[in-house]
Amino acid sequence: MAFKSILAILALSAVLQSVEGAITRRIACPDGNIASNAACCPLFAIRDDIQENLFDGGECGEEVHESLRLTFHDAIGIGSRGGGGADGSIITFETQELTYHANNGLDEIIDRQKPFIAKHNITAGDFIQFAGAVGVSNCPGAPRLDFFLGRPTAAAAAPDLTVPEPFDTVDNILARFADAGGFSPEEVVALLASHTIVASDHVDPTLEGVPFDSTPSTFDTQFFVETQLRGTLFPGTGGNQGEVESPLAGEMRLQSDSELARDSRTACEWQSFVNNQAKLQSAFKAAMRKMTILGHNISQLTDCSELIPTPKALTKIATFPAGLTNADVEQACASTPFPSLSTDPGPVTSVAPV
Ligand code: HEM
Repeated sequence: MAFKSILAILALSAVLQSVEGAITRRIACPDGNIASNAACCPLFAIRDDIQENLFDGGECGEEVHESLRLTFHDAIGIGSRGGGGADGSIITFETQELTYHANNGLDEIIDRQKPFIAKHNITAGDFIQFAGAVGVSNCPGAPRLDFFLGRPTAAAAAPDLTVPEPFDTVDNILARFADAGGFSPEEVVALLASHTIVASDHVDPTLEGVPFDSTPSTFDTQFFVETQLRGTLFPGTGGNQGEVESPLAGEMRLQSDSELARDSRTACEWQSFVNNQAKLQSAFKAAMRKMTILGHNISQLTDCSELIPTPKALTKIATFPAGLTNADVEQACASTPFPSLSTDPGPVTSVAPV
């Protein structure tokens, strides 16, 4: 009996050692950095370069917003109509994909990213997703996104009409996400947390840098609060395709975000993010992990998530913008009341362009 116990203890300790070995395995990179896998070593220099020279020293600004949008427009190019997903085809075949209406404006960030791809030995597909994950880490409140390395160069352009448009119906948007990668309505809502860091340049051609919420430089839940408020005005001319009235001067609301916030399939999920920073982070991180590897088998990629910086935490709780209260909420979730929030003090403000 005692002998059997000793054997069991020895076996257990061997397992623990091998588990510990796997966890603590470290490789010294040629540049002196330490990585868990040698394949991740070149990413240190790329990360430092883009933080300094693409993201203006680690800011959550325009290039970060555009880089995140680019991760989506590349990755969603997959499904029953064809396309290779997150394969960099939006850059490799930019002459074709940038003619697609939904990709309007992405030429600017592609032009900014291409020199980094040329300088470093990395595929466009890997670079787009790496830049997105590093960039998002500059936004306080964001989750620390995963990054997997190893996407080959795209073989062909994605077909047109894979990227949802703000004037698409909820039916079509949900169907497109399901077709692209089996995304559930809940995962679609989680991915739209990305619209908490937006400065739109192209929906209203007369305006530049128009946020979708009052806090475009922080990855917070204000977007989910403000999209649920009654729309009363346009930030600019109005009458633009895919735009509906917002509750705040200077703020833009997409028709698609407005409808997803009010549709019975997505409204409760939408509302559940209000003032729930922990859920915002975990759900967005999980949905992004799925989106950023569309078209690839994860077992053939290398997990280099350790290269992604840890974002600053955010402590501010969600509020109604000054002058607005629960009476301005267009309650759409039938089963749960809208969370009670305080109203920002002071006179009614407008949202400044980014
Ligand atoms: C129903 C799905 C979606 C629609 C219809 C949509 C539509 C749009 C539109 C029209 C803009 C404004 C572009 C401009 O005027 O410059 C925008 C911006 C943006 N979108 Fe989406 N989007 C969707 C989903 C997503 C997803 C899944 C992500 C990322 C995971 C994303 C990330 C962004 C970001 C970061 C911006 C800001 C870009 C900037 O400030 O330059 N979007 N989106």
